[in-house]
Amino acid sequence: MKTIVTMGRGGTGKTSFVALMAKYLIEKKKTPILLVDADCDQNLAEMVGIDVAAAGKKTVAELLCATFIERGGTTVGVPPSHRIENRIWEEGLVEGEHFDLLSVGTKWVEGCYCLPDAALKKALGTITRQYQYILIDAPGGLEHLNRRITDHIDMVFDVMGPSSKSFAHVQRAYRVIKEVGITVDRFYVIGGYAFPDELKSRASEETGLPCPGKIENDPQVAARVLAGESLLAVPKSSPAYRSVAALLDPLLSGE
Ligand SMILES: Nc1ncnc2c1ncn2[C@@H]1O[C@H](COP(=O)(O)OP(=O)(O)O)[C@@H](O)[C@H]1O
Ligand SMILES: [Mg+2]
Repeated sequence: MKTIVTMGRGGTGKTSFVALMAKYLIEKKKTPILLVDADCDQNLAEMVGIDVAAAGKKTVAELLCATFIERGGTTVGVPPSHRIENRIWEEGLVEGEHFDLLSVGTKWVEGCYCLPDAALKKALGTITRQYQYILIDAPGGLEHLNRRITDHIDMVFDVMGPSSKSFAHVQRAYRVIKEVGITVDRFYVIGGYAFPDELKSRASEETGLPCPGKIENDPQVAARVLAGESLLAVPKSSPAYRSVAALLDPLLSGE
């Protein structure tokens, strides 16, 4: 099981990158995959063709509230982590053909729940074991990292936009992850679709982190996002998909 977290400032193309990475892993038969939408925009589901509400599913935040806050302490004898784990399996996970999807929801990012966080961590430890890859679309703000829901991340991609704030974001993300004590095997910066080619060498020089590539600007991707259509259906020949495949190939080939 490998955990891959994608972060970066809003609008840099994080969520579409996660959707295209999912497509890549499905093409390479590196499945099953768990997609985790941890961003408040909550548009990962739509970008992979899933309607969470229509599927009758709830966010993790909603399930945490329903389990621990609204009817706190009523289910005597069942450990908190089992309670939330069961509810995530039954009411949270949306099942797709090659992947499942879980939405974290906004309340969890804002609120403060100590007991639920510990229970959630344990529950997710069990749930995630069923998958080969966990892809997390993380919010631009890094508050969620303080929750320490995970101790280890295999790969981080910080998607950069064409602004100095993107450089600052990478540095802050790197520092916060270290500070909260999460171990990361590999930390990469990648150029977002609006990141100029000529800045690629700067991205890695200034951040001190390897930059395996850049996502190509692709009108097909923009059109699909606008229409609310799945990015899993973009042709394999599309510039954005090809650029994502090209940057992931060397990173994931040995796995
Ligand atoms: N490869 C791309 N080429 C062109 N436009 C893109 C590309 N990726 C994303 N976009 C556009 O940029 C906007 C933000 O993308 P998104 O993936 O939601 O970014 P983020 O998750 O970082 O906020 C979307 O409206 C989408 O249309
Ligand atoms: Mg997003």
